[in-house]
Amino acid sequence: MHKSISLNHGLKKLAVTCAILPIALWHSSSVAQTPLRLTIDPSTRIASVSPTLYGLMTEEINFSYDGGLYAEMIRNRTFAKDWSGIPHWYVSEQRNGRAAINAAADGPSKALPHSLKLIVTAASPDDEAGVVNEGYWGMAVRPSTMYRGSFYAKTDGVQTARIRLVSDRTGATLAEASVPLGKDGAWRQYRFQMTSKAGIEATAANHFVISFDHPGTVLLQLVSLFPPTFHNRPNGNRPDLMRMMAAMHPHFLRLPGGNYLEGDTFKQRFNWKETIGPLVDRPTHRSPWNYTSSDGMGLLEYMEWCEDLKIEPVLAVFAGYSLKGEHVTGAALQPYVQDALDEVEYVTGDSSTKWGARRAQDGHPKPFSLHYIEIGNEDEFDRSGSYDQRFTQFAKAIRARYPQYKLIATAPVKSSVPDVVDDHFYKTADEFFAMVHHYDDAPRNGPKIFVGEWATRMGSPTPNFAAALGDAAWMTGMERNSDLIVMASYAPLFVNVNPGGMQWSSDLIGYDVLRAYGSPSYWAQVLFAGHLGDHTVKASVDHKDDRFFFSATVSPNNKMLFLKLVNASDRARKVTLSIAGVAKGQAEINSLHAASRWATNSINQPDAIRPVSSHIEARSGDWPLTLSGNMIEVLDIPLQ
Ligand code: AHR
Repeated sequence: MHKSISLNHGLKKLAVTCAILPIALWHSSSVAQTPLRLTIDPSTRIASVSPTLYGLMTEEINFSYDGGLYAEMIRNRTFAKDWSGIPHWYVSEQRNGRAAINAAADGPSKALPHSLKLIVTAASPDDEAGVVNEGYWGMAVRPSTMYRGSFYAKTDGVQTARIRLVSDRTGATLAEASVPLGKDGAWRQYRFQMTSKAGIEATAANHFVISFDHPGTVLLQLVSLFPPTFHNRPNGNRPDLMRMMAAMHPHFLRLPGGNYLEGDTFKQRFNWKETIGPLVDRPTHRSPWNYTSSDGMGLLEYMEWCEDLKIEPVLAVFAGYSLKGEHVTGAALQPYVQDALDEVEYVTGDSSTKWGARRAQDGHPKPFSLHYIEIGNEDEFDRSGSYDQRFTQFAKAIRARYPQYKLIATAPVKSSVPDVVDDHFYKTADEFFAMVHHYDDAPRNGPKIFVGEWATRMGSPTPNFAAALGDAAWMTGMERNSDLIVMASYAPLFVNVNPGGMQWSSDLIGYDVLRAYGSPSYWAQVLFAGHLGDHTVKASVDHKDDRFFFSATVSPNNKMLFLKLVNASDRARKVTLSIAGVAKGQAEINSLHAASRWATNSINQPDAIRPVSSHIEARSGDWPLTLSGNMIEVLDIPLQ
């Protein structure tokens, strides 16, 4: 629902359209300070802004892929065991149907040499027995929607599998399919599809049942079910989350981590060769965020994610160090260097190369574009001091074979020169306010900077408005220094907000299986990345205010000044803008505001805080305006 409201600007008010907001939101608290004069000369260029400044950082944390972006609905589809048995799977017995489950040491592939054994002791068409999967805190079922699935089975006795999506609340079948089974007692893959009923309510409280109407034994493995995915990719991603990322105007995706790249031990690292090819050949792996990854999001899926968003990967390669200190150097490091070379070939090689051919066989003949390779992650935590040696060994080998790529170091090195160094910042809002000038005097004659992870960590599971203010302030500093900072990515990107879903608080986008929402920090990024010029221009304030921040960039192509103003005080702030060379026309204002720093969005109140658009008449000379307290404002001002 939309309605018109008036803005608190000392400018001619034009039409304003916005989502309904609490009226108090626009009541600024008393205006205390002397007006601050912000003088901007859009014709005086100061420094370039990197065309790749804003991007995405990702890893399997907080159920980011499994139970998140990766659209698979079945949890523990490969029947991993733990102390409790086979988690997320239960026996299903209708009326007089009876069954029991065990783990079996028999599977359809070398990677999956085990399975779930279902022994159906009593069953008939009205008394079925089988197994239930509870999904990732439920399963999203929407009306008139096609669900595609598959499973591997080795059967004895049973004849037909019945597949159903069932409402937890009512027990009603929402979608169903029947699959005739082979009789040769061999492992086979079966595929099915089913369409949910029209007119049902979209809900998350549903479960999956696979059942049988005849006694016998079934070994099951890799039971999979997908809803429609973004671009209809098989084994693909949730459309809502892909659209939310697209709205962030990203230029790159840093992958696959983070700690997820390194693992607690070498065994837990992101071993890319075990994440490619048919799912049945992916063994899955335990990750440092304390759950098992299905590896459905494998190296090729990451690349396709980039392709779908029209962005480039920043490929982080495992560098011979894991979080608990395991590390190798010299000859022992060489196999990992070779793995990295092979990985780059898998991503970029044509079909005449060994790994390029493998990628073509996996379904993507066209090589992917790549410019940056990152060696390791946060290697300053390697107390053995081996990173210098490890980076240098990787750099020599990669540069010899691929001189065109820029190499990113994750900690200072002396024995070779990285093209870029990755700096990480997790701060409070006040800390970010105090460090917006962090890079202003940094040397410009050394490696460039990648702020590969950064976030104001206030609010859980997703950041509150204080965090958005900290983020916005920090982004003004990054934009001002973007001749040095070539890329920046907030982390972590995703969190499944269900109890037990989160390992790291303050994550940009929250969701359950059905719904997703952007935190105030998300909206701040949408605004900053979507309104950015290609150079900064001369801009200064007449007196200091340690809670007021700004960035002024210009795009000569569309003759636009992008002005970002952040009032991180909870009191309104008068500002006089003095801008030369403004063209006649309308300036667009996007405002992100909250009545309190503790205000936030949540899964049940996803739109409490959202940007509001308005327009004002643009003009040269003085513009008096009043910024409400707790305000992030982005102005697009046409230039002559
Ligand atoms: O973003 C969460 C974690 O923070 C990353 O995995 C790691 O690189 C950093 O310490």
